[in-house]
Amino acid sequence: MSTRPKPLVAGNWKMNGLKAALSEVSAIRDAAAAGEAGRAELAICPPATLIAAVADICKGSSVATGAQDCHARESGAHTGDLSATMLKDAGAAYVIVGHSERRTDHHETSEMVRAKAEAAIAAGLTAILCVGESQRQREAGETLTVVGEQIEKSWPKGASPDSLVIAYEPIWAIGTGLTPTPADVAEVHAFLRREVERLLGGQGTGVRLLYGGSVKPSNARELMAVPHVDGALVGGASLTAKDFMGIAAAYKA
Ligand code: 13P
Repeated sequence: MSTRPKPLVAGNWKMNGLKAALSEVSAIRDAAAAGEAGRAELAICPPATLIAAVADICKGSSVATGAQDCHARESGAHTGDLSATMLKDAGAAYVIVGHSERRTDHHETSEMVRAKAEAAIAAGLTAILCVGESQRQREAGETLTVVGEQIEKSWPKGASPDSLVIAYEPIWAIGTGLTPTPADVAEVHAFLRREVERLLGGQGTGVRLLYGGSVKPSNARELMAVPHVDGALVGGASLTAKDFMGIAAAYKA
Protein backbone atom coordinates (compact mmCIF):
# COMPACT_ATOMS: atom_id res chain seq x y z
CA MET A 1 0.00 0.00 0.00
CA SER A 2 1.65 3.24 -1.02
CA THR A 3 -1.26 5.68 -0.96
CA ARG A 4 -0.81 8.56 1.45
CA PRO A 5 -3.28 8.66 4.33
CA LYS A 6 -5.99 11.33 4.40
CA PRO A 7 -4.46 14.25 6.30
CA LEU A 8 -5.79 15.29 9.70
CA VAL A 9 -5.62 18.78 11.16
CA ALA A 10 -6.58 18.59 14.83
CA GLY A 11 -6.97 21.50 17.22
CA ASN A 12 -6.02 21.01 20.87
CA TRP A 13 -7.72 23.77 22.81
CA LYS A 14 -5.98 22.72 26.04
CA MET A 15 -7.51 24.51 29.10
CA ASN A 16 -9.09 27.23 26.98
CA GLY A 17 -12.64 27.89 25.87
CA LEU A 18 -15.93 28.85 27.47
CA LYS A 19 -19.34 28.41 25.85
CA ALA A 20 -18.84 31.69 24.02
CA ALA A 21 -16.05 30.03 22.02
CA LEU A 22 -18.56 27.69 20.36
CA SER A 23 -19.12 30.34 17.70
CA GLU A 24 -15.60 29.51 16.46
CA VAL A 25 -16.64 25.86 16.12
CA SER A 26 -19.65 26.78 13.98
CA ALA A 27 -17.39 28.94 11.83
CA ILE A 28 -14.92 26.05 11.39
CA ARG A 29 -17.74 23.67 10.47
CA ASP A 30 -19.10 26.12 7.88
CA ALA A 31 -15.68 26.81 6.40
CA ALA A 32 -15.00 23.07 6.11
CA ALA A 33 -18.34 22.61 4.35
CA ALA A 34 -17.29 25.35 1.92
CA GLY A 35 -14.21 23.29 1.02
CA GLU A 36 -11.65 25.46 2.81
CA ALA A 37 -9.86 22.48 4.35
CA GLY A 38 -9.36 20.85 0.98
CA ARG A 39 -8.76 17.12 1.35
CA ALA A 40 -7.91 17.32 5.07
CA GLU A 41 -10.09 15.97 7.82
CA LEU A 42 -10.54 18.34 10.76
CA ALA A 43 -10.95 17.62 14.46
CA ILE A 44 -11.49 19.93 17.42
CA CYS A 45 -10.44 18.77 20.90
CA PRO A 46 -12.05 21.23 23.32
CA PRO A 47 -11.95 20.99 27.11
CA ALA A 48 -14.21 18.20 28.39
CA THR A 49 -16.89 20.71 29.40
CA LEU A 50 -17.51 21.52 25.73
CA ILE A 51 -17.18 18.08 24.10
CA ALA A 52 -20.92 17.38 23.88
CA ALA A 53 -21.67 20.89 22.58
CA VAL A 54 -18.91 20.69 19.94
CA ALA A 55 -20.12 17.25 18.85
CA ASP A 56 -23.65 18.64 18.54
CA ILE A 57 -22.53 21.56 16.39
CA CYS A 58 -20.39 19.32 14.17
CA LYS A 59 -22.89 16.48 13.82
CA GLY A 60 -23.27 15.45 10.19
CA SER A 61 -20.30 17.64 9.15
CA SER A 62 -16.75 16.71 8.19
CA VAL A 63 -15.42 18.08 11.49
CA ALA A 64 -14.80 15.51 14.21
CA THR A 65 -14.73 16.05 17.95
CA GLY A 66 -11.92 14.92 20.21
CA ALA A 67 -10.95 14.88 23.87
CA GLN A 68 -7.60 15.75 25.43
CA ASP A 69 -7.13 12.81 27.80
CA CYS A 70 -8.91 9.74 29.17
CA HIS A 71 -8.57 7.37 32.10
CA ALA A 72 -7.29 3.85 31.46
CA ARG A 73 -10.29 2.23 33.20
CA GLU A 74 -13.79 2.08 31.84
CA SER A 75 -15.58 3.11 35.05
CA GLY A 76 -15.14 3.10 38.80
CA ALA A 77 -13.92 5.06 41.79
CA HIS A 78 -11.73 7.64 40.05
CA THR A 79 -12.99 11.05 41.16
CA GLY A 80 -12.64 13.73 38.53
CA ASP A 81 -11.58 11.39 35.73
CA LEU A 82 -13.33 10.56 32.46
CA SER A 83 -13.30 7.20 30.71
CA ALA A 84 -12.91 6.73 26.97
CA THR A 85 -16.39 5.24 26.90
CA MET A 86 -17.80 8.44 28.44
CA LEU A 87 -16.00 10.56 25.89
CA LYS A 88 -17.37 8.42 23.07
CA ASP A 89 -20.84 8.72 24.63
CA ALA A 90 -20.44 12.52 24.67
CA GLY A 91 -19.72 12.49 20.94
CA ALA A 92 -15.92 12.28 20.70
CA ALA A 93 -14.25 10.30 17.92
CA TYR A 94 -10.65 11.11 18.93
CA VAL A 95 -8.73 11.41 22.16
CA ILE A 96 -5.25 12.83 22.65
CA VAL A 97 -3.08 10.71 24.94
CA GLY A 98 0.43 11.33 26.25
CA HIS A 99 0.59 15.05 25.54
CA SER A 100 3.82 16.41 27.02
CA GLU A 101 1.83 18.75 29.27
CA ARG A 102 0.15 15.73 30.84
CA ARG A 103 3.40 13.78 31.01
CA THR A 104 4.85 16.75 32.94
CA ASP A 105 1.88 18.08 34.95
CA HIS A 106 0.49 14.65 35.87
CA HIS A 107 3.68 12.58 35.78
CA GLU A 108 2.28 10.29 33.08
CA THR A 109 4.71 7.59 32.00
CA SER A 110 4.71 5.89 28.59
CA GLU A 111 3.27 2.79 30.27
CA MET A 112 0.33 4.85 31.55
CA VAL A 113 -0.08 6.42 28.13
CA ARG A 114 -0.18 2.98 26.57
CA ALA A 115 -2.98 1.90 28.94
CA LYS A 116 -4.94 5.04 28.02
CA ALA A 117 -4.44 4.46 24.30
CA GLU A 118 -5.61 0.86 24.69
CA ALA A 119 -8.70 2.03 26.60
CA ALA A 120 -9.41 4.57 23.85
CA ILE A 121 -9.16 1.94 21.12
CA ALA A 122 -11.30 -0.51 23.10
CA ALA A 123 -13.98 2.19 23.39
CA GLY A 124 -13.96 2.78 19.64
CA LEU A 125 -12.05 6.06 19.72
CA THR A 126 -8.99 6.94 17.67
CA ALA A 127 -6.06 7.72 19.96
CA ILE A 128 -3.75 10.61 19.03
CA LEU A 129 -0.54 9.51 20.74
CA CYS A 130 1.96 12.33 21.38
CA VAL A 131 5.73 11.95 21.49
CA GLY A 132 8.53 14.50 21.48
CA GLU A 133 11.87 15.48 22.96
CA SER A 134 12.90 18.30 25.29
CA GLN A 135 15.35 21.02 24.32
CA ARG A 136 18.07 19.37 26.40
CA GLN A 137 17.48 16.02 24.71
CA ARG A 138 17.62 17.61 21.26
CA GLU A 139 20.85 19.42 22.07
CA ALA A 140 22.32 16.15 23.33
CA GLY A 141 21.46 14.47 20.02
CA GLU A 142 18.97 12.16 21.73
CA THR A 143 15.83 13.04 19.74
CA LEU A 144 15.39 9.76 17.87
CA THR A 145 16.29 7.67 20.91
CA VAL A 146 13.75 9.49 23.08
CA VAL A 147 10.98 9.43 20.50
CA GLY A 148 11.71 5.78 19.64
CA GLU A 149 11.50 4.79 23.30
CA GLN A 150 8.21 6.66 23.75
CA ILE A 151 6.73 4.90 20.71
CA GLU A 152 7.96 1.50 21.82
CA LYS A 153 6.71 1.80 25.42
CA SER A 154 3.38 3.49 24.69
CA TRP A 155 2.44 1.47 21.61
CA PRO A 156 -1.10 0.13 22.20
CA LYS A 157 -2.28 -3.38 21.42
CA GLY A 158 -4.90 -3.36 18.67
CA ALA A 159 -3.43 -0.34 16.88
CA SER A 160 -4.42 0.18 13.25
CA PRO A 161 -4.47 3.14 10.83
CA ASP A 162 -8.07 3.79 11.92
CA SER A 163 -7.48 3.61 15.64
CA LEU A 164 -4.11 5.31 16.07
CA VAL A 165 -2.56 8.62 15.02
CA ILE A 166 0.94 9.64 16.11
CA ALA A 167 1.73 13.29 16.84
CA TYR A 168 5.36 14.42 16.97
CA GLU A 169 5.52 17.46 19.21
CA PRO A 170 8.99 18.64 20.21
CA ILE A 171 8.42 20.07 23.71
CA TRP A 172 10.59 23.12 23.04
CA ALA A 173 8.42 24.07 20.05
CA ILE A 174 5.12 24.03 21.95
CA GLY A 175 3.75 27.51 22.56
CA THR A 176 7.13 29.12 21.94
CA GLY A 177 6.88 30.24 18.31
CA LEU A 178 9.96 28.08 17.62
CA THR A 179 9.76 25.24 15.11
CA PRO A 180 12.27 22.66 13.95
CA THR A 181 13.53 23.09 10.39
CA PRO A 182 11.68 21.12 7.72
CA ALA A 183 14.80 18.93 7.47
CA ASP A 184 14.63 18.17 11.21
CA VAL A 185 10.91 17.35 10.97
CA ALA A 186 11.63 15.15 7.92
CA GLU A 187 14.26 13.19 9.84
CA VAL A 188 11.95 12.47 12.78
CA HIS A 189 8.93 11.66 10.62
CA ALA A 190 10.90 9.28 8.38
CA PHE A 191 12.08 7.57 11.57
CA LEU A 192 8.51 7.42 12.90
CA ARG A 193 7.30 5.90 9.63
CA ARG A 194 9.94 3.18 9.86
CA GLU A 195 9.02 2.47 13.47
CA VAL A 196 5.28 2.33 12.74
CA GLU A 197 5.93 0.00 9.79
CA ARG A 198 8.12 -2.18 12.00
CA LEU A 199 5.33 -2.42 14.59
CA LEU A 200 2.38 -2.74 12.20
CA GLY A 201 3.85 -4.18 9.03
CA GLY A 202 2.32 -3.02 5.75
CA GLN A 203 -0.51 -1.24 7.59
CA GLY A 204 2.02 1.21 9.01
CA THR A 205 1.94 3.20 5.77
CA GLY A 206 -1.60 4.26 6.58
CA VAL A 207 -0.99 5.57 10.11
CA ARG A 208 -1.17 9.36 10.15
CA LEU A 209 1.89 11.12 11.54
CA LEU A 210 1.08 14.67 12.66
CA TYR A 211 3.51 17.46 13.45
CA GLY A 212 2.69 19.77 16.38
CA GLY A 213 4.42 22.77 17.95
CA SER A 214 3.88 26.42 16.95
CA VAL A 215 2.04 25.55 13.72
CA LYS A 216 0.57 28.76 12.29
CA PRO A 217 -1.03 29.81 9.00
CA SER A 218 2.34 31.31 8.01
CA ASN A 219 4.36 28.07 8.40
CA ALA A 220 1.70 25.39 7.80
CA ARG A 221 2.27 24.97 4.08
CA GLU A 222 6.01 24.40 4.49
CA LEU A 223 5.61 21.99 7.42
CA MET A 224 2.74 20.04 5.85
CA ALA A 225 4.79 19.55 2.68
CA VAL A 226 7.46 17.57 4.56
CA PRO A 227 7.44 13.87 3.59
CA HIS A 228 5.53 11.69 6.09
CA VAL A 229 3.81 14.69 7.68
CA ASP A 230 0.13 13.79 7.38
CA GLY A 231 -1.33 16.76 9.19
CA ALA A 232 -0.95 18.93 12.27
CA LEU A 233 -1.81 19.01 15.95
CA VAL A 234 -2.41 22.69 16.63
CA GLY A 235 -2.57 24.44 20.01
CA GLY A 236 -2.88 28.23 20.22
CA ALA A 237 -3.73 28.77 16.57
CA SER A 238 -6.69 26.38 16.79
CA LEU A 239 -8.61 28.72 19.10
CA THR A 240 -9.89 30.91 16.29
CA ALA A 241 -11.59 29.71 13.12
CA LYS A 242 -9.53 32.18 11.12
CA ASP A 243 -6.13 30.79 12.15
CA PHE A 244 -7.24 27.14 12.26
CA MET A 245 -8.66 27.34 8.75
CA GLY A 246 -5.56 29.26 7.67
CA ILE A 247 -3.59 26.15 8.65
CA ALA A 248 -6.04 23.68 7.10
CA ALA A 249 -5.80 25.69 3.88
CA ALA A 250 -2.37 24.07 3.40
CA TYR A 251 -4.39 21.12 2.05
CA LYS A 252 -6.40 23.15 -0.44
CA ALA A 253 -5.47 22.28 -3.98
P1 13P B 1 1.03 25.27 20.04
O1 13P B 1 0.46 25.11 18.66
O2 13P B 1 0.32 26.33 20.85
O3 13P B 1 2.52 25.41 20.01
O4 13P B 1 0.72 23.90 20.84
C1 13P B 1 1.02 22.69 20.23
C2 13P B 1 0.42 21.62 21.03
O5 13P B 1 0.84 21.34 22.15
C3 13P B 1 -0.72 20.89 20.46
O6 13P B 1 -1.03 19.75 21.18
